[in-house]
Amino acid sequence: MTRIIYFCIYVAIVVNLLNDCLALTDDEVTIMASNFLATRKNIHVLNGNMSYLDSGPVDAKYVVVLLHGNPTAAYLWRNIAPYLIQHGIRCVAPDLIGMGHSSKIPNSWYYVSDHVRYINEWFTLMKFPRKINLVVHDWGGPLGFNWAMNNKRRVQSLTFFEALVTYSENLDAMYDSMPIFKEFRSPAGEKLVLEENAFFDLFYELLPGVLSDKDKAEYLVPFLEPGESRRPMLTFPRDLPRKSEQRSCFVNKMTKKYSSWLAKTKRFPKHAILAYPGILTPAMADTVKDWANIEFTNVTGDRPMLHYFQEEAPRPLGMAIEKILVRVLKINTPL
Ligand SMILES: *[C@@H]1O[C@H](CO)[C@@H](O)[C@H](O)[C@H]1NC(C)=O
Ligand SMILES: *[C@@H]1O[C@H](CO)[C@@H](O)[C@H](O)[C@H]1NC(C)=O
Repeated sequence: MTRIIYFCIYVAIVVNLLNDCLALTDDEVTIMASNFLATRKNIHVLNGNMSYLDSGPVDAKYVVVLLHGNPTAAYLWRNIAPYLIQHGIRCVAPDLIGMGHSSKIPNSWYYVSDHVRYINEWFTLMKFPRKINLVVHDWGGPLGFNWAMNNKRRVQSLTFFEALVTYSENLDAMYDSMPIFKEFRSPAGEKLVLEENAFFDLFYELLPGVLSDKDKAEYLVPFLEPGESRRPMLTFPRDLPRKSEQRSCFVNKMTKKYSSWLAKTKRFPKHAILAYPGILTPAMADTVKDWANIEFTNVTGDRPMLHYFQEEAPRPLGMAIEKILVRVLKINTPL
């Protein structure tokens, strides 16, 4: 009996070592990330241009679309995509309209309803020849969930984390624990966000010592000029569903609709990535715990996982998403 146990421990150690050997090294990730950033393209969408990273090729067997939220951009996915690209997966990451390197829209308030129109049109114009695996974060969540509901046949899998699934009481509690959100939503929001760049500072302060000067400069690109160029960052928190707005809010209706559909559908595998403490994770985990065809993966890093897991723990997150997709897509790995 003892011998068997020793043997099992031995096998477990060898398997772990092999896994570690096969994993990308940090240097490999760095090189692949800069190659990914060099794939930037542009596409005319409605009355603007949307910028996106696309590792290609167009006829790749597997496609992953990675959607970011506020106040980030496709740049957020640079250290995650390599874990998928190494398996020949085509990774495509757009910058939402008015954000990253996408163009600004004159006189736009960048409501979530506007983002929905632009991203839906972007998906259409991209003419993806294969089913799509969505990997979504923050406001990329609602945009991806909504697209999935309206394009059921085109979805192969859905992976999400720190995403707004639907209105819940827990969300109200979450906003109340961050009084700055109340200020963004008040008339003081214009001065705070458009003039003082307070939303960006909040993002930066959530990642102490994580972002290099180069990363910060890259994230700042769309928001350098005070004023309307920063409007996208302000409208997102104002569009968050609250209890008092449950009937009228576009976002509330949309989230309610897709979340009740996603809860039931068995059409494609869903995967929630959880990391703690998280900001949206507790409410999200509670909402999706009984969804059909869903699995969960916990990710831990060397620091508290608050919200931007791609920056907080790129390696554990990248490997978690890799593992999920290798299994979903039945990609053969040496093990
Ligand atoms: C979109 O890109 C095209 C080609 O680069 C450019 O001519 C046009 O002015 C851009 N439009 C906007 C709204 O930025
Ligand atoms: C993930 O972590 C949470 C909080 O620590 C725990 O309650 C849950 O059981 C874990 N789930 C999995 C799938 O490991």
